[in-house]
Amino acid sequence: MTKRENNIISPEKTAAMRSAVADVRAYTDAARADGSRPLAHIMTFGCQQNEADSERLAGLARAMGYELSPTPERCSLVLVNTCAVREHAEKRALSVIGQLKHQKAKFPEMIIGVGGCMVSQPHRAETLKRSYPYVDFSFCTTELWRVPELISARLAGGGRVFSVSADALEATDFSEDIPVARSSRTHAWVSVMYGCNNFCSYCIVPYVRGRERSRTPEDVESEVRGLVADGCRDITLLGQNVNSYGHDLASGVTFADLITRLSAIDGDFRLRFMTSHPKDATSDLIEAMAKSRVAAHHFHLPLQSGSDRVLERMNRRYDSSRYLDIVRELRAAMPDITITSDIIVGFPGETEEDFEATLDVIRRARFDMIYSFIFSPRRGTPAFDMDDQIPDEVKSARFARLIETQNAVSLERNRAAVGSVLRVLVDDEFDDPDSPTGRTEGGKLVHISGNVKKGEFCTVIIDDADTFSLRGKAID
Ligand code: SAH
Ligand code: SF4
Ligand code: F3S
Repeated sequence: MTKRENNIISPEKTAAMRSAVADVRAYTDAARADGSRPLAHIMTFGCQQNEADSERLAGLARAMGYELSPTPERCSLVLVNTCAVREHAEKRALSVIGQLKHQKAKFPEMIIGVGGCMVSQPHRAETLKRSYPYVDFSFCTTELWRVPELISARLAGGGRVFSVSADALEATDFSEDIPVARSSRTHAWVSVMYGCNNFCSYCIVPYVRGRERSRTPEDVESEVRGLVADGCRDITLLGQNVNSYGHDLASGVTFADLITRLSAIDGDFRLRFMTSHPKDATSDLIEAMAKSRVAAHHFHLPLQSGSDRVLERMNRRYDSSRYLDIVRELRAAMPDITITSDIIVGFPGETEEDFEATLDVIRRARFDMIYSFIFSPRRGTPAFDMDDQIPDEVKSARFARLIETQNAVSLERNRAAVGSVLRVLVDDEFDDPDSPTGRTEGGKLVHISGNVKKGEFCTVIIDDADTFSLRGKAID
């Protein structure tokens, strides 16, 4: 592999993007006689990486002169950022796109663009082209920079465009210089790398997000410094597998080095990251976290399955005993750490014994919380073609047992927090305006009594706990 010296910037793509932004801006400036701005709405499905991409789409929409709207009604531009990780995610996106037909019928100047992981699969771009004639264009995950160009061409009367090219997905030189409209002042996503090289046998992500590309530490640091200077309190570094950060850079920098470097930034903030792959979780990283003043004591470490046979067929490249060693090392270095995980039930060929092995690791690892998923076959991945698919009713029954087992562990872990004093970051918005909520370092929900300031840290003494949340009094 040739290693890169510098960042993922293509001067040509950046110039093309800027010029198209100016073209659309000229249109939006002239569009309304009363001086109001045409509206744009952005819908997001999927993971934090998509949330971060949507903040870039929102930044572009603003730069093009649109005003952001919370709903698609009477919008001149609607962008849908889709997910493909499970069938359900695709169905939801397609149903929302289906509903836009009526919105566009009522407001024909609406331009609809669909991007993200679902339409980065050629068969799905084709579905949109054929069955959703009111959708104007699609764009791949690596082509955000092209969105202004696609809008500008459509405004100029050009045809519909549905392109997924292997070249676009493999591009290592997409534009980095995209404006960002952040949705929160308190929390921010910072991508440290894009793509995934792991090819877990069930997962679509490597096919729709291309190969791993790391941003330089200088660039990440300057973004984080800017956020901290703006008062941001909770910064999450994003990548599909942050532990392989830097492998593609010539400088030899590692993710542990990055954490150490960012920890030297002055300011009152928390630093988190996701997601870590157990095969690359190093002792250096654990040490860098434990030493850091700002790294949250939270580790999200997807297990996927507790059966070594299934892990092998998933192409995960670790076994349950290696996994449990990492959990032990994390707890030894940071006794107060919150550990969370992802589990898939019903992977092809999963026997009752395999599933029992997963329950066993769950009881031993004692996660604070898990995200559990029923295996969903993804076209184009090896697991899609495996013979021994598990019947739906078996998958559902195992899913229920998994949740029951984990809920008992979560309740025990939360109850153990009663009596402790925790630093809690108060949310920006509360569901009930009179009941403040916040998040612990480990991301647990806390219902707070007492006077607290939105978006600021406070100290809470925990006095009650249930399976999914804690309760406590603010003491400063
Ligand atoms: N890069 C991250 C997360 C990727 S997607 C990682 O490696 O952990 C988030 C989670 O979705 C995965 O951890 C996995 O548990 C789940 N997932 C991915 N593909 C799936 C599929 N085909 N069916 C069910 N769950 C899946
Ligand atoms: Fe998917 Fe595996 Fe990559 Fe995570 S590490 S995105 S599960 S292929
Ligand atoms: Fe979905 Fe793509 Fe994220 S498939 S989970 S939006 S990387």
